[in-house]
Amino acid sequence: MIDLARLPRLVKDRWASTRRDLGMISLLLQGKHPPPLIPIAAQAVTESAVQPRALRVEQVVRETPDALTLWLTDPSGAALRCLPGQFFTVLVPVAGKLERRAYSASHYVADGSRLALTCKRIAGGKVSSFLHEYAHPGMLLQVLGPSGQFGVTPQPGLARKLVLIGGGSGITPLWAIAQAVLAEEAASTVTLLYGNRSRADIIFADALGELGKAHPQRLVLRHVLSEPSPDFASGSGILDQATITQELGALGCLGRDADYFVCGPQPMMEAARAVLLREGVAPARIHEERFATPQLAQEELPSTTQTVELAHKGQTTLVSVAPTETILEAGLRHGVMLPFSCTMGGCGACKAKLAEGSVAQPEPNCLTSQERQAGQVLLCVSHPRTRCRITVP
Ligand SMILES: Cc1cc2nc3c(=O)[nH]c(=O)nc-3n(C[C@H](O)[C@H](O)[C@H](O)COP(=O)(O)OP(=O)(O)OC[C@H]3O[C@@H](n4cnc5c(N)ncnc54)[C@H](O)[C@@H]3O)c2cc1C
Ligand code: FES
Repeated sequence: MIDLARLPRLVKDRWASTRRDLGMISLLLQGKHPPPLIPIAAQAVTESAVQPRALRVEQVVRETPDALTLWLTDPSGAALRCLPGQFFTVLVPVAGKLERRAYSASHYVADGSRLALTCKRIAGGKVSSFLHEYAHPGMLLQVLGPSGQFGVTPQPGLARKLVLIGGGSGITPLWAIAQAVLAEEAASTVTLLYGNRSRADIIFADALGELGKAHPQRLVLRHVLSEPSPDFASGSGILDQATITQELGALGCLGRDADYFVCGPQPMMEAARAVLLREGVAPARIHEERFATPQLAQEELPSTTQTVELAHKGQTTLVSVAPTETILEAGLRHGVMLPFSCTMGGCGACKAKLAEGSVAQPEPNCLTSQERQAGQVLLCVSHPRTRCRITVP
């Protein structure tokens, strides 16, 4: 048996991927289905996705001048499990309104004994400012989740090559993924390309360095700073197409045998996607998490109020939906107790069947192409274009 730890990284990668391919061929020859390469988080909407629970803030850790991590536990002692890459929705009252925002679980905690959410303050942002100003140990926070399909299910038997491309606060799900894969999959490798403005803006800078030292053969870290400093090893520039091509090329990561996880500012995500597609990476190997909620352009919104027949729990309610309202907002306004969680098309809690009519809903969202074809819609981001009939499970 070949000792992977003794091989140089490139040979080791090649050996690991050959071994994985041979394993899959062998399973297929035996008439068995091999496991998916990157298993995606379970789609089922759990109770905790629609019923908030109060979690206690145990610790507030300042990561950078404008990012902090909240370490949370469930006072009942219940485990806070999620798959690395998933997010939770935090509900906080701001100016008399309950606001909801998603935050990715930013650390991998194998036993679910606690949960870390890392929040970067956005200038003028309601919830991030609230958390930065008021979060303190002992405080209770209403939290929904976990939700989302971005991420991995660690499987000790897998030997995969993950390339993570992150910018700014987009490191949060990537950090959890890196920790989980390195902890649980002894034959998998991780490369992280991480862009920031300056050394002081790098979230988890020290911890990333420590993880790199703990896994010198399996984790490659590459920082890129738009304001580099002479005492810190990094590339220079912003993660645009040219820089991403150059950096991934230099890291030997522009192959077709890797899986790419991308999270960061929109221009960086678009640049990464363009580079990867141009290099022939299969779209199924490109996994993206957007922190911004997709919005419909003004011209895509319906111009008139429409009527929606909402069938829910054996009752049908006629709901009038104003052009700027979502079907969820209108349904709740009419007193229909519709299920929902993230309210931004990311979790699937508000999935319903469009039996008649047509809706406009922004892309991308968490619906799969099969669900879209089967007439599933997300009530939290959908606007009716015509009179509609919708069945809510
Ligand atoms: C699936 C998912 C996971 C997320 N995970 C994290 C996470 O781990 N850590 C984290 O810090 N944030 C994360 N976010 C973003 C987070 O949900 C909020 O959008 C963010 O904290 C801003 O909320 P706010 O109420 O402070 O700003 P708002 O009051 O909603 O917005 C204020 C202004 O800032 C703009 N804005 C909103 N969000 C951003 C942004 N991310 N970057 C730049 N401008 C913005 C808005 O367009 C608006 O103009 C995630 C979002 C999603 C959808
Ligand atoms: S409430 Fe999460 S997708 Fe609609």
